Amino acid sequence: MSMEVIQTVDGLWRAKHQLCSEFAAKEQKRPYVGFVPTMGNLHDGHLSLVRRMVDECDVSAVSIFVNPTQFGPGEDFNEYPRTPEADLMRCEDAGVDIVFIPESGALYAPDHSTEVIVRKLTDGYCGAARPGHFAGVTLVVAKLLNIVHPDIAYFGQKDYQQFRVIERMVRDLDFPLDIVMSPTVREPDGLAMSSRNAYLGDDERRAAATIYEGLEALADAFAAGQDGAEALKEVARSKLADMVQLEYLEIADAWSLEPKESAASGDVVLVAAKVGGIRLIDNIILAAGEENAD
Ligand code: PAF
Repeated sequence: MSMEVIQTVDGLWRAKHQLCSEFAAKEQKRPYVGFVPTMGNLHDGHLSLVRRMVDECDVSAVSIFVNPTQFGPGEDFNEYPRTPEADLMRCEDAGVDIVFIPESGALYAPDHSTEVIVRKLTDGYCGAARPGHFAGVTLVVAKLLNIVHPDIAYFGQKDYQQFRVIERMVRDLDFPLDIVMSPTVREPDGLAMSSRNAYLGDDERRAAATIYEGLEALADAFAAGQDGAEALKEVARSKLADMVQLEYLEIADAWSLEPKESAASGDVVLVAAKVGGIRLIDNIILAAGEENAD
């Protein structure tokens, strides 16, 4: 069956209804619908989510939308890489059923005036550095979940705070779906895959890889028995190249994201840094005396 590429909300409803009816008629059961929301420029990180969805679901949908409401003034909304033809080919190769690729006007009425705010979890880290960012994310994700109505949606661990914020919104507003966090996909040198890596020059690219080196060194020190957060953070800092300007490095409770003074297994280490003006984020989950999960 060929992939449907849809630009409007009612087009999406019609296509999804048709696919689900065909599936139900053939299989005599309701299809399990999966969804991966993206801002396009799909790399192997996105594709790992997409492939998992196609594998686990009967009907699969991807959205490609560079969401203006999650970019602040002076951020890279205009420059954000847009590669729709390549993205559509990757989705088709992965076996996706529907790609929703709306224009901004199809999603936001000129006088749209509704907000979706998750408090507290959005105060720190990327929320502090990018005021309004998470309100834009929760608004668009709430809209996309209402439009697509999936049974399950997949998000990457790389955007750890985003995942916890969306998870809280889904719980607090009783969205009827499961959400899943899938592991970060990395370049061979450990750098977390991100559309923004394409902005990095060669020296910056090499420096950026030390962010994960720092996280791994911290996690190894924890696994070896060190648990003081300050000492552990110093282990990570000592690995960073000079070009890496830390924005935050914190060991936090995995659910509440409250900073910890003494690290425990299951805590998350969250980092954001600028390299040559490019903002990068990463994280790792601590595990005592065994492999660290990321
Ligand atoms: O993680 C992203 O790519 C975006 O924040 C999302 C979830 C697609 C919302 O625009």
